[in-house]
Amino acid sequence: MRSILVLNGPNLNMLGVREPGVYGSETLAGIEARLARLAGELSLDLEFFQSNLEGELINKIHGAYGSKDGILINPGALTHYSYALRDALTAVSLPAVEVHLSNIYKREEFRHHSVTAPVVLGQISGLGAYGYELALLALVRHFDEKGE
Ligand code: DQA
Repeated sequence: MRSILVLNGPNLNMLGVREPGVYGSETLAGIEARLARLAGELSLDLEFFQSNLEGELINKIHGAYGSKDGILINPGALTHYSYALRDALTAVSLPAVEVHLSNIYKREEFRHHSVTAPVVLGQISGLGAYGYELALLALVRHFDEKGE
């Protein structure tokens, strides 16, 4: 069974409370429950991890090397400036998909740039919680295309 690490960065533990007009009213637990349901249908094993600390996310990515087949990540604001997170994704060279609940290109200028996007398979932005499900499907498609 393929195994995917689902990472959420700073402030995403506050979903449901945090700016519902921007991020929707669904909690992170709700999003994870949706993903767990879909993973059952796709025969995927998921591990969920959220942290507000950059180093903890980096350690988790390192730990995925040799034990996971792919990464689904919403890096939160780290998206826009964390070269360390980007380097961690590059270091393990696992297929990864970047997700943003909001459309970062419609928002403040500083959110328009992602330092992580160039090192992932692709980015999904602006489709809310559904974006996480699409990211999982994209990873499965990637595995199938590679014949793994
Ligand atoms: C976010 C967008 C980021 O700009 C922001 O800092 C977040 C959430 C999103 O999911 O839309 O924390 O990654």
